[in-house]
Amino acid sequence: MLAELDKLVVERGCTRSEMLRDLARAEVVRAKVRSGVDAVAALTIVYDHHVRDLSEKLTELQHQLGDRVRSAMHVHLSHDYCLEVIVIRGKADRLQAVADKILAMRGVKHGGIEIVSDLELTGHHPGPHAHEHPRPAPRRRAAARKP
Ligand code: NI
Repeated sequence: MLAELDKLVVERGCTRSEMLRDLARAEVVRAKVRSGVDAVAALTIVYDHHVRDLSEKLTELQHQLGDRVRSAMHVHLSHDYCLEVIVIRGKADRLQAVADKILAMRGVKHGGIEIVSDLELTGHHPGPHAHEHPRPAPRRRAAARKP
């Protein structure tokens, strides 16, 4: 076991203690996900939109999740493929379950989920912007062009 580990250490060009720290961190994250802490996740999928009912299923699932879906981006990659990034908030184990369900659908070619659960996400959220972001100075909009 240790020999196998040291082989990985050499491949990655790190030290054994760095490798062990990374493995421990990954296991802590997995344990947190299982325990269902509050989290936010970015689910990325690439899928073939010609596969029967897949687009409808994905849309239906997002409607079921309601306002837990915080944002979604759709990119028509090619004639066949679409890429979608879906940002979801909820309990980490639930987010993982949703991701597993989507990633197992026929026609989903690639995908993965990044679950962030080590931030304070449970606090009071007074409005759409709990904190301000600097914004560019307002510009005068060009007059709308009419056809
Ligand atoms: Ni598309």
